[in-house]
Amino acid sequence: MSVDWSVLDKPVTDLHAAKNPLAGRDVLRLFDLTPEEFHLVLSTALAQKRAWKADPSKVQAEAPYQGRAVGIILEKPSMRTRVSFELAAARLGAHPVIMADTHSAFSRGESLKDTTMVMERFVDALVIRSFAQARVEEIAHWARIPVINALTDDFHPCQGLADFLTMYEHKGDLSRLKLAYVGDGNNMAHTYLEGAAMSGMDCHIATPPSYQPQESYLNEARALAARTGASLTLTTSPDEALAGADVVITDTWASMGSESQHDERAVLFEPYRITMASFEAAAPRALFMHCLPAHRGEEVTDEVMDAPFSAIYDEAENRLHVQKALLSLLMAEN
Ligand code: CP
Repeated sequence: MSVDWSVLDKPVTDLHAAKNPLAGRDVLRLFDLTPEEFHLVLSTALAQKRAWKADPSKVQAEAPYQGRAVGIILEKPSMRTRVSFELAAARLGAHPVIMADTHSAFSRGESLKDTTMVMERFVDALVIRSFAQARVEEIAHWARIPVINALTDDFHPCQGLADFLTMYEHKGDLSRLKLAYVGDGNNMAHTYLEGAAMSGMDCHIATPPSYQPQESYLNEARALAARTGASLTLTTSPDEALAGADVVITDTWASMGSESQHDERAVLFEPYRITMASFEAAAPRALFMHCLPAHRGEEVTDEVMDAPFSAIYDEAENRLHVQKALLSLLMAEN
């Protein structure tokens, strides 16, 4: 693999040039990107972030997608995703159309096909937060405009892009990092396996025995890891995952849809809580990350959330930058 993970500092891609391989594409999981395209999204986000910080009014004046629109369908609750996609679209000059209640999209039992094919007459890209991965895959099947997964039960690629950008900004060369994810083998665990496989990382996922990531996703990630030099390890031991880790990540123990299992999970996941003691096993200057919302005192202590080595708010901010980059690249004319 020719990707240099020590460098994401590149000029913004010429969105309309033939060399933008992402024009018109869907991103339903990180593996919809090649490692080179994953690098392109992150480097575009970093360049756009820097340009915005240097002179926001200049960037806004040059917004490339004036007169266009982005449909944002949220079938599950959201704060960060909604705000960051709405702003990302607006900063590109596009009008965000948000449907965030059960009656505004797929209403009255309308089929995914009919809603999707009507929506694409109005908007230029669709962002969807939903339940089963198959649901967003079916929408992408019908849509002739780009479709972006804004979280399903299986994957959260936009959060993954934000998190790998945050790791790069704080720790540099992704291929030299050990990532420890400790908690539920959920959509974030699947997403980290994919991002780590693409960027050549040493990734350890520690979960209780019956909460491991899905085997099929692990096998796909391992197949790519064999080509990129990544190492992917599943364990039930948080200590094993944390030993020497450069980046320590956790997530809620009961994701959206699993809330009814909260009490039984809370007992089982107790040894997986991230505390200041966890960081004694990690590498010096290790980073803490959490996609939020967090349950302070449950999967992670207040002390860790508020520590100087916590990057939780940088991650949240980077949602905006990576999603703006993604929309820039996918909405380009092809
Ligand atoms: N991390 C994340 O997706 O946050 P929201 O659920 O608030 O969008």
